Amino acid sequence: MFSYVNGSYIDYKDAKVHIEDRGYQFADGVYEVFAVINKKIVDYDGHLNRLYRSLNEISLKSPIVKDAYLFHCRNLIRKNKIKDGLIYLQISRGVAQRDFKFPINIKPSLVITAKNVSMESYNSKFNTGIKVKTTEDLRWKRVDIKTLNLLPPVLAKQKAVNNGCDEAWMVDDDGYITEGSSSNAWILINDKLITTPATTSILKGITRTSLIKALKKKKIKLIEKKFGKKDIKNANEAYITSATQFVMPVVKVDNIKIGNGKVGKYAYIFKDAYMEAIQLK
Ligand code: PDD
Repeated sequence: MFSYVNGSYIDYKDAKVHIEDRGYQFADGVYEVFAVINKKIVDYDGHLNRLYRSLNEISLKSPIVKDAYLFHCRNLIRKNKIKDGLIYLQISRGVAQRDFKFPINIKPSLVITAKNVSMESYNSKFNTGIKVKTTEDLRWKRVDIKTLNLLPPVLAKQKAVNNGCDEAWMVDDDGYITEGSSSNAWILINDKLITTPATTSILKGITRTSLIKALKKKKIKLIEKKFGKKDIKNANEAYITSATQFVMPVVKVDNIKIGNGKVGKYAYIFKDAYMEAIQLK
C-alpha cells in the first residue's frame, strides 16, 4: 500500500509527518473524502471544488496546482489496486514551531491515502438499514468548512456506537437536527423528502448535492427545511448520505422506529437515482 506524502509515494507503514505539523497540533487544515467505484472517482469535481473553497475559507494556499490532484488520486488508485474504496486527502498549514498565529513562509502539508472498501459491505448494511442516536451538536459555527477539527463528531459517533447505533444525528440548541457526525440527514414524510438547508450549520455534502440533482430529474418533491424529533416521529423513512455511505437507510432513531422498522421502498429509488446521477472520473 502506498500513500502520497508531500510529493512522494511512500510505503504506507513508513509514511510520516513531523510532530510539529499544525494539523496535528491545531487541527489547522482541511480534508476531503472521495469514493471510488470501479476504479473511478465519484463526483471528483464537486469534491475538489469544495476542497478549494475550504482552503480559501481558512486562508490556506494549495501546495500543488489544481490539476495535479487528479493525477495523484489516480496514481494511488492504480498503485494500490483500488476497485471500490475511498481516497482521503488532507492539507494542513504545514510544519513550524508551535505558535497560534500563521507562520510565515511554510509549505502546507499534503497527504493522500487510498484503500479498498467492498461494495458488498455497503450493500449488506443497506439491506438492514442503520440505527441513529441523537446527540448534542457541540461543534463550532463554521462546520460548512471541511476542517480537521473533528473532536465533537468523534465524540458524537462514539456515543452512538456505545448505544448500539451506527451514526449520531446532532441536535442544535433549538432542538433541530443539523446533520450526522459524518453525513447529511434526511427524512421522508408523506412522499416528501426533507433535509436540513445548507447553511453554515451543516457541511454541504457532495452526495447530498448529487441526490438533489437526481431527485429533480425524477420529479420527487424535496423540501430543504429544519426538522426535529417530533418530525422524525412522523417519518415514513429516513436516510443518511455521505461519500462513504452513499444513500443509506435509517430504520431507528433513538427509540423511534422509522416506518415499520425495515428499509422502505423509497430508499431503493433514491439509491438508484443517486447512482445514476453521479459523475465518475
Ligand atoms: N464526511 N456532514 C458531515 C459533518 C460530514 O463529515 C460529511 C462527510 C458529510 C457528507 O459529505 P459528502 O457527501 O461530501 O461526503 C456531511 C466524510 C465522509 C468523512 O469525514 O469521512
